[in-house]
Amino acid sequence: MGKDVIVACDFAGEKETLEFLSMFTGRKPFVKIGMELYYSVGPSIVEKIKNRGHKIFLDLKLHDIPNTVKKSMAVLSKLDVDMTNLHAAGGSAMMKAALEGLTKPDGSRPILIAVTQLTSTDADALKNELLINTPMAETVMRYAENAKNSGLDGVVCSPLEAGAVHGRCGEKFLTVTPGVRFADGDIGDQKRVMTPAQAKIEGSDFIVVGRPITAANDPVEAYERCVKEFVG
Ligand code: C5P
Repeated sequence: MGKDVIVACDFAGEKETLEFLSMFTGRKPFVKIGMELYYSVGPSIVEKIKNRGHKIFLDLKLHDIPNTVKKSMAVLSKLDVDMTNLHAAGGSAMMKAALEGLTKPDGSRPILIAVTQLTSTDADALKNELLINTPMAETVMRYAENAKNSGLDGVVCSPLEAGAVHGRCGEKFLTVTPGVRFADGDIGDQKRVMTPAQAKIEGSDFIVVGRPITAANDPVEAYERCVKEFVG
């Protein structure tokens, strides 16, 4: 599996998204479609972007009982996405059911990755709201291991955690990492960031980059710069 840059298309509607993607006349970026865009436009947005030649990471973070997740994943699999995800907090039975649902009759399936703990959950919320007394770093690693043992392909994590996840779960276990900024760029609301070049050194397999590309004066140039730094 080669390294790649995934562009987070965090737009509210179809028009803005397709206008943005129309700028990419050469290399077609791997695109992340999140909840906002998917729920506002519906499944047709996946087909439209796919038909333009992009790979798709459908970031819907499923979390429900195993049977519901299995059936929902079967529906997403028919959309022919390349990567999708769920919450590891749903447990191993749910993750295994998700894989069953995603697998097509020919045995192929999209890449399935797990969210460990959301970065919006801090140590205080982990302990006092979720009543998890294990430290955050260990919780993240254990959730990653659960995902691996359930047969998933990787996790979403900070580039700062990519090396540790590979150390615990193996080099082939994918790390998909947001929180990426250019050395000379705004960090915005992200707290712990890395440049594409640093993420490469840490061993990230995919970087997820939103505003440094979507809000750039020249998004295509910003995307190509990311690819050059991260993929080489
Ligand atoms: O614009 P920016 O580069 O910050 O976008 C990062 C993308 O990655 C957004 O779609 C955001 O929701 C997602 N993400 C994140 N941090 C996580 C998980 C997902 O920034 N822990």
